[in-house]
Amino acid sequence: MVKEKILVIGASGQIGVELTLALRKMYGNANVVASDLREENDLLHGTGPYVSMDVMNKEMLHVQVIRQNITQVNLLAAILSATGEKNPGLAWNLNMQGLLNVLDIAKEEKLHKVYWPSSIAVFGPTSPKQNCPQQTIIEPTTVYGISKYAGEFWCNYFFQRYGVDVRSLRYPGLISYKSSPGGGTTDYAVEIFHEALEEKKYESFLNPDTYLPMMYMPDAIRATIELMEAPANKISVRTSYNISGMSFSPKEIAAEIKKFIPEFEISYKPDYRQKIADSWPQSIDDSKARSDWGWKQEFDLPKMTRDMFENL
Ligand SMILES: NC(=O)c1ccc[n+]([C@@H]2O[C@H](COP(=O)([O-])OP(=O)(O)OC[C@H]3O[C@@H](n4cnc5c(N)ncnc54)[C@H](O)[C@@H]3O)[C@@H](O)[C@H]2O)c1
Repeated sequence: MVKEKILVIGASGQIGVELTLALRKMYGNANVVASDLREENDLLHGTGPYVSMDVMNKEMLHVQVIRQNITQVNLLAAILSATGEKNPGLAWNLNMQGLLNVLDIAKEEKLHKVYWPSSIAVFGPTSPKQNCPQQTIIEPTTVYGISKYAGEFWCNYFFQRYGVDVRSLRYPGLISYKSSPGGGTTDYAVEIFHEALEEKKYESFLNPDTYLPMMYMPDAIRATIELMEAPANKISVRTSYNISGMSFSPKEIAAEIKKFIPEFEISYKPDYRQKIADSWPQSIDDSKARSDWGWKQEFDLPKMTRDMFENL
């Protein structure tokens, strides 16, 4: 087996923490270097090497890749959908330049693999709402979605033109109990658990019947690892794979939470994030990921809710 040394960029974020811990279990603590612009997340402390780094600083990134003998990069640093709408220029710059820096270095240093997540935010109001297919009309209306869609084509370009083995998933909204979410439109589905436990009530920033594609973090981490471990000849999509876990609305998750906390109450005060949510599909067809590399989700809404309350 080829010895891998993996760099995770954006390791202190919602996905980064859990992906870093999972990779350290698989590859050994010393072989997974965590890095972020902000300080090391407490959950990573003492579990392996950490470097403070800005992905926009290409020279420093290049030096780290060489110095640490990196063979794989997982690029998770990004500005998410809701924060992106507040600062479109910043979201575009970071989401594009960060990716281009990594792809260029991957090409130059002949890295074995690169992972970069896209999002269901690539889809827009003209995409099918139900079971949105892998290939369909894609006209995103958020800067985040535009940056992810452009990024998908940069990944495909670097694969086709330079043979860089870059792989990607279009994550739905991710729900986790370890690290907190970083400014997305689906953050409500994490906040609601914390508020239910602490306050017994929650004010949702999305309307009761806003259905969105979601996934529990253990499924997302497993999907990422399965995609990255799959033989290259199984990967037919070099833009980004649709991937699906579950779909629910604020009203449905509130009803599920009530089974554990009967006095829990939800109220609704939609804000600017409602418009973002309304532009996205409600459910995703992930048959390509299933047939190419055997993806299958494990968690539905009831199973996730039980697991969240067991762990929070
Ligand atoms: N969380 C979700 O629901 C979700 C859904 C779809 C796609 N994604 C994608 O997954 C990836 C990770 O998302 P997340 O939820 O963990 O985000 P997050 O905001 O929680 O974490 C991102 C991390 O990147 C770091 N970062 C920001 N700018 C940086 C820079 N210039 N240099 C180095 N690090 C920097 C941040 O400090 C943060 O720790 C992103 O590409 C995101 O678009 C996430």
